[in-house]
Amino acid sequence: MRFYTLKVLDIRFETGDTVTVSFKQPGLKPIKYSAGQYLSLIFRINNRRYIRPYSFSSAPGVEKTLNITVKRVQGGVISNHIIDKLKIDDVVEVIEPMGDFILYDSEAKSEIYLWGAGSGITPLISIAKYAVYNNRAARVRLTYGNRDYENVIFKKEINELEIAFKDVFSAQHFITKPFISELNPNIVQGRITANEVRDILNAGKNRLNNSLHYICGPVGLKESVKLVLAEYGISEGQIFSEDFEIIRDPKEFENIYTQYVSIKQNNKEPFTVEVIAGKSILDAGLDSSLNLNYSCQTGSCLVCRARVLKGEVKMIGVKQLSADLTPDECLLCSSFPITDNVEIEVD
Ligand SMILES: Cc1cc2nc3c(=O)[nH]c(=O)nc-3n(C[C@H](O)[C@H](O)[C@H](O)COP(=O)(O)OP(=O)(O)OC[C@H]3O[C@@H](n4cnc5c(N)ncnc54)[C@H](O)[C@@H]3O)c2cc1C
Ligand code: FES
Repeated sequence: MRFYTLKVLDIRFETGDTVTVSFKQPGLKPIKYSAGQYLSLIFRINNRRYIRPYSFSSAPGVEKTLNITVKRVQGGVISNHIIDKLKIDDVVEVIEPMGDFILYDSEAKSEIYLWGAGSGITPLISIAKYAVYNNRAARVRLTYGNRDYENVIFKKEINELEIAFKDVFSAQHFITKPFISELNPNIVQGRITANEVRDILNAGKNRLNNSLHYICGPVGLKESVKLVLAEYGISEGQIFSEDFEIIRDPKEFENIYTQYVSIKQNNKEPFTVEVIAGKSILDAGLDSSLNLNYSCQTGSCLVCRARVLKGEVKMIGVKQLSADLTPDECLLCSSFPITDNVEIEVD
């Protein structure tokens, strides 16, 4: 895993609670990334190391800077730190770009459907720009849900793409809060429901066999889109989704109690941490100031993988367990001890 330090060139508010941070590309060796990937930012606050992934909102070859766009999460440590404290010329440590929510090559140019809501727009706008500027899609259709029209992130940029690439790119906004209509048929009042998804798919029905679908937003949106895509016979291989946070079923925690876990790191003496019921082993380790590596905290990047030497842990909430993980390994961000003698080893 490679680490870089990047200088902040610009910070601009997209809406009242969302900023775009532009980082200068390193001069000698620019950082390579794919549209849709994310950058993990590292901050040290009150002696604790925090790592948070943010999807690129820039697209390679379209913008010279590396841009991320951050929405404030109420009570959130790092989103508030970035919005309130980060300044131009600050230097931020980052982990190399990661993620497989990217545009895949296909023989014929595909119809690309982007389904998003709120801050889920970031990887989607990156994919949209990359696809239209590089002539990589027959058509790109963005369906974007928000609470109110004033706070639509990238409203102006989306509008400009619609004008500059009018034969290839189109966007439809869904706004839940009542608003005064701008007489624009592409701004619809209401949610992105299963029926709306059907209408959108019906409009391009004869090309759906060559379509790719990228979804980034809350669980409700993801579920309704996936349900209708299945109804239309779209295969799983044509559907990609990105989760910004993991939603865990409280029932999964029924037999999980507070336990002590021993963590052995870099051949150092093992360190014992108290894992309070409901906290992951990663969180307990970080609370004890251990320098554990991690990034996504959703069970997808594998950066927090560890070997279970003794005892048993239960992994909760991981969407799809990677085949790269060996039977004796677990992901600390999603692991909870279920016996009282757990011993873990990390590199
Ligand atoms: C692959 C990936 C890409 C991401 N890309 C972006 C991006 O482009 N823009 C962006 O703004 N965020 C993005 N995120 C989310 C981001 O990494 C942080 O999780 C988010 O900024 C909250 O961090 P925090 O430190 O402020 O909150 P924390 O202090 O970690 O959490 C505080 C509370 O907020 C809840 N919470 C955590 N994340 C969210 C969330 N996303 N929405 C609502 N509640 C939350 C937690 O459950 C907790 O209760 C991405 C996450 C992943 C996994
Ligand atoms: S931090 Fe990404 S899998 Fe655990």
